[in-house]
Amino acid sequence: MSAGGRVHVELGDRGYDILVGAGAINQIDSQLRSMHESGARRAFIVIDTGVPTRFVVQLSKLATDAGLQVATASITPTEQIKSIETYQKLLVQIAATGHSRVDPVIALGGGIVGDLAGFAAASYRRGVPVIQCPTTLLSMVDASVGGKTGFNLQIPNDDGPATLLKNLVGAFWQPKLVIADIDVLESLEDRQRRSGLAECIKHGFISVGVGHGELLDWMIQHLDAIAAFDPPTIQELVQRNVALKASVVALDEREDTSKAGGRMLLNFGHTFGHAIETIAHLSPDPSDPSKAPLHHGEAIALGMLAACRAAENESGLDSSIGDELCSLLNRVGLPTQVAGLPSNEELIQRMSHDKKATGDSIRVIYPIARGRCAVVNDASAESIGVGFDAIRSD
Ligand code: GLY
Repeated sequence: MSAGGRVHVELGDRGYDILVGAGAINQIDSQLRSMHESGARRAFIVIDTGVPTRFVVQLSKLATDAGLQVATASITPTEQIKSIETYQKLLVQIAATGHSRVDPVIALGGGIVGDLAGFAAASYRRGVPVIQCPTTLLSMVDASVGGKTGFNLQIPNDDGPATLLKNLVGAFWQPKLVIADIDVLESLEDRQRRSGLAECIKHGFISVGVGHGELLDWMIQHLDAIAAFDPPTIQELVQRNVALKASVVALDEREDTSKAGGRMLLNFGHTFGHAIETIAHLSPDPSDPSKAPLHHGEAIALGMLAACRAAENESGLDSSIGDELCSLLNRVGLPTQVAGLPSNEELIQRMSHDKKATGDSIRVIYPIARGRCAVVNDASAESIGVGFDAIRSD
């Protein structure tokens, strides 16, 4: 592995390492051998069909060489497939191999595969070990760290298509190890890479408040190399972002809603973003509807900008914060406008279905200064509407 990094998530006996680097996947070897010494005999690998075959072969060989019998299941990730049916199918496949309580589940893929595999591991036999091997930038810097697992629910509607509620069912289940092998990112499509950058920019916008004040300026200084996906710069980007995420998770493992900040701050842009992410006709390019639907990072980019503009109306936030965000999103090719948004009433209704809503009030994360955000428990509908209007292109 080239000069890579190790970040530890400080959670006592649930603590774990995140290994970042080119070729880091090879380091799974010692974890698997130690599991074998403790009685593991099988590994169940959940594979994202987007992962290049050579990584699947490499990981299977590493597990076999560690003495484990390998079984696999493949998932083509979509928000629709992140369902109770896929979860159940996965459990049946795992059970059919005779998987024991000490055998690991390994997730090799993006956030959808990591969340499904993680929840299967959290619940099968009341919990078996999981190792997360994220293969997208988005899952490396966010989804694979912190133990959030689960799937989406579809609520039927009498008068139209079902409403998809993201991540409504799940559990916190910390992995034993996270391996972010930078080599795997070579195969990512440009749009997926940019989607991951949205979560990095999100981290920049909370960085000062969570003790990583240098992150935003470091990203701005290196933005051209980041946008060009220069491998050493991306490795450092991942390391810096997982370090921020690890420290937030260490202080607030289960997103304690009574805390003024903590893990809830990681939801900056998400309550607005989730309201638009599952609207099938929205495209990141207002002039090209064929690119619909939005990818997660694209929805979060738009959601963060809407939150900034809403905060200007709600609490007089300086418009330079939203302007800086808009310029960063433009420079990395993320959307700042979207055509075809439904009415603000409908969007607010969708927001209140999001699991971050609290009773009748809507909880959002608003910026309060450069690099700082805060939780607002009863955001006004008027300001939310101002936020959505700011990202409408029609
Ligand atoms: N993605 C937000 C969190 O992990 O808490």
